[in-house]
Amino acid sequence: MLLRSCFFIPSPPCRPLTLSSFSALPSVLQRQFPSWRTLSTRPTPIVEMTGWDDMWKRDGGLKPGQYFDACKSSPVLLELIQEWKVKYADYSNGKPDALVPGCGRGYDVCEFAKIGFNGLGLDISPTAVKAAEEFNESELKSAGVSAWKGDAKFSTDDFFTLEGRKFDVIYDYTFLCAIEPNMRKSWAEKMKQLLKPGGELVTLIFPLETREGGPPYAMSIDLVTNLLEPEGFVCDYLESVPEGKSHKGRGGKEALGRWRLKK
Ligand SMILES: C[S@@+](CC[C@H](N)C(=O)[O-])C[C@H]1O[C@@H](n2cnc3c(N)ncnc32)[C@H](O)[C@@H]1O
Repeated sequence: MLLRSCFFIPSPPCRPLTLSSFSALPSVLQRQFPSWRTLSTRPTPIVEMTGWDDMWKRDGGLKPGQYFDACKSSPVLLELIQEWKVKYADYSNGKPDALVPGCGRGYDVCEFAKIGFNGLGLDISPTAVKAAEEFNESELKSAGVSAWKGDAKFSTDDFFTLEGRKFDVIYDYTFLCAIEPNMRKSWAEKMKQLLKPGGELVTLIFPLETREGGPPYAMSIDLVTNLLEPEGFVCDYLESVPEGKSHKGRGGKEALGRWRLKK
């Protein structure tokens, strides 16, 4: 079992570990993790699903702050949300649609729903989807409301086989780095298929590293560009994220890409 990043290190709730702390991980601890990676080779989605769900079910359920879970949305997304709130303030064409593939506990889907998007979070782990639904319920309760301006929906649909819907915004954070490298071309093709004309794909690229293996697999700006440009995506913005705008332990390892399809 390869465990090479903070994603898969157990950590106290809501205190994700730094990447550097991973190197100090005792090998005995590494061996305690499920060998989902070795089970996750396509084209056997059912086996892959078992692997991810095993991770989500582990030790009574993945807690906020453990492995890849950062307890909340990235400050980068929260900034974009403010921009979209203005851009999509007029609902005369209906509520805008947002997709979060590999949504985990659904923090980002809730943020979209709060500003009036119909947000759809996909996660092939039923345990993740249940956790996302529970998180959304608890957020509604804390806010003292029975519904957001838009919907927050969660589904166990596989991103690669999702059909019949298109989205104004698609937000990828730690999904591309989690899938097997041989699925990356399909990832780009599917992004193209799922985006509405004039829609935007946002890639918060992490982890910007050079190491071997994964998941999470090392990402780079060139890697993402070389996946998206052949599909007809044009880059509107592609910059490193300032350290202070990343989750703790991820500073200096993230870049934001904003993409649209050529007309
Ligand atoms: C690294 S986690 C990231 C979760 C979330 N984006 C976050 O930042 O907390 C990747 C998630 O993608 C889900 N996943 C993997 N393959 C998927 C697929 N083909 N379709 C939908 N979800 C998938 C996994 O179950 C896992 O919860």
